[in-house]
Amino acid sequence: MGNTESDAKTLSTCERAREHVRLTAMGAEVPAAEMPRFLRACYRQSVDTTPVWLMRQAGRYMAEYRLLREKYSILDMIKTPALACEVTLQPIRAFDVDAAIIFADILPPLEAMGLQLEFINGEGPLIHNPIRSASDVEALVVPDPEERLGFTLEAIRLTRRELAGLGIPLLGFSGAPFTLAAYALEGGTSRNFLYTKKLMLDEPAIWHRLMTKITDMIATYLVAQVQAGAQALQLFDSWAGALSPADYQTYVLPHSRRAMALGSAAGVPVIHFSTGTNGWLELIQEAGGDVISIDWRIDLDRAWRRLRAGSVLQGNLDPVALQATWPALKQRATAVLDQAAGRRGHIFNLGHGILPGTPVDNVRRLVDFVHAYHPAYLADYP
Ligand code: CP3
Repeated sequence: MGNTESDAKTLSTCERAREHVRLTAMGAEVPAAEMPRFLRACYRQSVDTTPVWLMRQAGRYMAEYRLLREKYSILDMIKTPALACEVTLQPIRAFDVDAAIIFADILPPLEAMGLQLEFINGEGPLIHNPIRSASDVEALVVPDPEERLGFTLEAIRLTRRELAGLGIPLLGFSGAPFTLAAYALEGGTSRNFLYTKKLMLDEPAIWHRLMTKITDMIATYLVAQVQAGAQALQLFDSWAGALSPADYQTYVLPHSRRAMALGSAAGVPVIHFSTGTNGWLELIQEAGGDVISIDWRIDLDRAWRRLRAGSVLQGNLDPVALQATWPALKQRATAVLDQAAGRRGHIFNLGHGILPGTPVDNVRRLVDFVHAYHPAYLADYP
């Protein structure tokens, strides 16, 4: 399944692994001044307070985002680096979050591979020419990221310049192989993933060929994002929860593992995100990632007990809690923090993205509440 020759090429461009990667691998403590708390938590270093950022922290719930969207389509915003940079910074200006995530989407890379992508207002993404045959798989190209996805790389460069001095790290991201393959095969959102699962079950050779090509794209795209300035990466396997553990293990895990390993080799922490995978969370960890992002369908402390000792977890508030009244939201946020119980290696986040209609004031209060939450437990902070 591995693509050894191009993997070697990708790896050879990854010699930027930093000193702190080596140090943390040895279990050494990095001086606080040298690393912002989001990255410290990724490496399970001590922190002064729990780092927090929110998936989809830029989006329609913000008035300043909606204002731009009156003038530009989502794809225009993604493909215009100055606009993508501006939108990335909107939540940074509004809230005290500990990380920025580049404004982009998981689907433009499929467009770069040869699929025709459209975002239909109110309905979501649509691919006009979904994969239907072995020859469609062969026709997919593995794009040169600078040539075909240069807009996001340029947006990363611009945003890093804007964030310089704030001490806020910038995340890059990609869809994970399964979720991207499912979009390519279904052509959009799906309930039963019929095309995807039928290809997987009936034509495993074609399936693996498709997954290998998509993984090649992901690996080169992730490395290019790190070279452009991304300081951490997140892989979104939003739909992995549709699979049985055995099918995940056979048809997905080897490809996800390769994507994670090549991303990690670029020298930054990689976050492995999925939803609905709590029945077989151990397999998500087996596939890789320095940080495992979990949803609200499992308690954080239970996930910690199930995963390897010393695991770093991100999560796991239900995004709908952000639309409740403050006392109800505060209670849910407290439950998450109490389960984390001051362990090293917790990044507070939602279990999935912020929903449209979320009150901005709740987001602000949540972020401030997480930071203020009894920092006494962080007694070993230098
Ligand atoms: O988190 C961020 O602030 C960064 C930006 C980001 C977007 N999409 C912007 C976006 C990220 C990280 C994504 C990832 C993404 N995109 C995923 C994985 C995470 C997840 O939610 O499971 C998926 C599955 C997609 C595909 C996608 N993009 C869908 C299904 C939709 C439509 C649904 C919706 O929310 O409208 C999009 C559009 C999209 N991508 C929006 C944003 C802010 C809404 C666009 C709008 O302005 O109309």
